[in-house]
Amino acid sequence: MSSTNTRFAQKTALITGAASGIGRATAIRLAEEGASVMLADIDEKGLTATLATIQQAGGQADTFVFDATQEKDCCGVVEATIAKWDKLDIVGNIAGIVSFWHLHEMTTELWERSIKINLTAPMIICRESMPHLIKTQGNIINMASTAGKSGQAYNSIYTATKHGVIGLSKSLAVEFAKQNVRVNTICPGGVKTALNDKLRWAENMDPALVGRLSPLLDTMAEAEEIAALFAHLASAESKFVTGASWVIDGGQLAG
Ligand SMILES: NC(=O)c1ccc[n+]([C@@H]2O[C@H](COP(=O)([O-])OP(=O)(O)OC[C@H]3O[C@@H](n4cnc5c(N)ncnc54)[C@H](O)[C@@H]3O)[C@@H](O)[C@H]2O)c1
Repeated sequence: MSSTNTRFAQKTALITGAASGIGRATAIRLAEEGASVMLADIDEKGLTATLATIQQAGGQADTFVFDATQEKDCCGVVEATIAKWDKLDIVGNIAGIVSFWHLHEMTTELWERSIKINLTAPMIICRESMPHLIKTQGNIINMASTAGKSGQAYNSIYTATKHGVIGLSKSLAVEFAKQNVRVNTICPGGVKTALNDKLRWAENMDPALVGRLSPLLDTMAEAEEIAALFAHLASAESKFVTGASWVIDGGQLAG
């Protein structure tokens, strides 16, 4: 690729959610900096588009269509990465879903689906990746949210999953620190992606409670800004950072 920045030369990365938004931007950024990237998502068309962008710029990538609700698929993304490049240095669990509901509207089915995609899939991918990351002294970055740091009205399912992602990541950071595998989370506030464009809001929400989700800065983040933070945390520049949950929210949680 054209970038002269090669922080990830000879590195192999597995990025879920790579068909869209933050996952797509992250995969492109890592490939620009020299990584070979396995692009994983349920959206085959989106994956093909991300792959084309990377390849047109001279980067290395491959795709794996997977459904994060399926354990065999989650194991499969790791197997496919190892089969392709024989090693794994960086894992980004970025695929996720969100929708806003009043408590009385929340179905058990929606709860279980959200837990599977946002929390169980990252756990399985961390578990399957860990033996490979121990060999390379690699690192994991799980995409949490400001919803992993505070309560959000009408968003309790998502908030529970993202608190879980932070708990999972901190615990793995402790468990694997002596083996030099770093595990961190990123906690974005509002980011301009399809997730927000297609967001399902609850009806009759209290505006005062929803207003707590707004950044203090007068814009939302671009996906590329989250990707830049991901690249910083995944690189050797952050070799002393583990167990962190790094907020990037335009001041949302400060106010
Ligand atoms: N956009 C925001 O404001 C924001 C804020 C905080 C955290 N996040 C988190 O960032 C991550 C990425 O979100 P985004 O904003 O880029 O959204 P996005 O909708 O653009 O991308 C999410 C990706 O996840 C994939 N996905 C959904 N269900 C899947 C499944 N069952 N199996 C495999 N892939 C599946 C989608 O196909 C999509 O490509 C999510 O974990 C989200 O919770 C986003």
